[in-house]
Amino acid sequence: MASTTASSAAEIVSKLNINDLDFPPNLAKNLHLFSPDQIELAKMLIEMGQSHVFQHWAEPGVDDDQKKAFFDKVAKLDSSYPGGLASYIKTARELLADSKAGKNPYDGFTPSVPSGEVLSFGDDNFIKFEEAGVKEAQNAAFVLVAGGLGERLGYNGIKVALPAETTTGTCFLQQYIESILALQEASCKLTQALYGTSQKEIPFVIMTSDDTHTRTLELLESNSYFGMKPTQVKLLKQEKVACLDDNDARLALDPHNKYKIQTKPHGHGDVHSLLYSSGILKIWRDAGLRWVLFFQDTNGLLFKAIPASLGVSAIKQYEVNSLAVQRKAKEAIGGITRLTHKDGRSMVINVEYNQLDPLLRATGHPDGDVNCETGYSPFPGNINQLILELGPYLEELTKTGGAIKEFVNPK
Ligand code: UTP
Repeated sequence: MASTTASSAAEIVSKLNINDLDFPPNLAKNLHLFSPDQIELAKMLIEMGQSHVFQHWAEPGVDDDQKKAFFDKVAKLDSSYPGGLASYIKTARELLADSKAGKNPYDGFTPSVPSGEVLSFGDDNFIKFEEAGVKEAQNAAFVLVAGGLGERLGYNGIKVALPAETTTGTCFLQQYIESILALQEASCKLTQALYGTSQKEIPFVIMTSDDTHTRTLELLESNSYFGMKPTQVKLLKQEKVACLDDNDARLALDPHNKYKIQTKPHGHGDVHSLLYSSGILKIWRDAGLRWVLFFQDTNGLLFKAIPASLGVSAIKQYEVNSLAVQRKAKEAIGGITRLTHKDGRSMVINVEYNQLDPLLRATGHPDGDVNCETGYSPFPGNINQLILELGPYLEELTKTGGAIKEFVNPK
């Protein structure tokens, strides 16, 4: 970035063909401090209705370093989002407006119960799928999304360091790693006995964020990676996005420092673009892997069902498999639902609990979400445990360069 601190504000403004009257007075007075690129960013912020961020700016000569740091941050936020900060604000504004207006994102869709396999722990069917899953596990990679802050939990540490059970105090990360290693060993033993093939390591990716990265690495290093080879574990850090103050998507400033934009992790959907841009998916595909399993930071029971679920994917040849749990009607957990549009489109997705009941009522089910003969809602509960077939997954991501459509979740 060229340094233009010597140029006058008027020179820069005329060079960029900007009318300086568009700039709030507090910014206009300081323009000479910035490079043309930074002034372009200022222009973008103003065009995007963000003049308030300059409201508290001091006279030139006061806090100049902080003003420059402000634009460094804006540049970072701009470069780390597809389409830049303007696109982020625009999308957020549209999504927030739809959410405020109570717009039904499922307009034109009819919900129905998706097809799937019901697993009952320990019965013959379960054992059959479990055996198939154990065999298949050495063709799998595991991805833990662990960039979340856990704000609602009210806990300051990283969630994967919490005890998964209280008798030994084993933390979630240890339990996950030991489970993957146990699966790796069982899978290798089985296939060695069957085909005489050699030992394979199951890759393990952890998505972190600025809030969790250092502490996750420290937890791994101070515990010798809980027995896993350090080279088997890869940490991918997601970038943060700007926090928004209101439904107009006004950028939120730090209450303690008005030159700082508050930021937070973008949501676990970032994992797809990160995996794609890191090139790791192609490495896995070229190494002959077939499955990618996604899971979350605090699910202590998960690995009891992982082998059987993977077996379901393998035997039924599911490209996308979402492991779900029994869910009481209206329980505050999203329901896995098939949605069929008037125009013929159809998809199986998670419908949030506050949307499922009204959607059912609006589409010919006057009682909404009710329990069926099993005593549970026919729409199983989403736990965000996905098993994707690597080939088709990579093909889909290649179409969008790894970008995934966003949704808004005001909390
Ligand atoms: P949650 O929905 O529990 O969100 O995340 P959270 O941010 O951790 O918690 P709150 O909302 O602040 O209370 C579900 C999973 O997604 C991960 C979390 O670590 C958890 O495993 N996650 C969430 C990310 O990896 N990145 C994010 O930006 C958000």
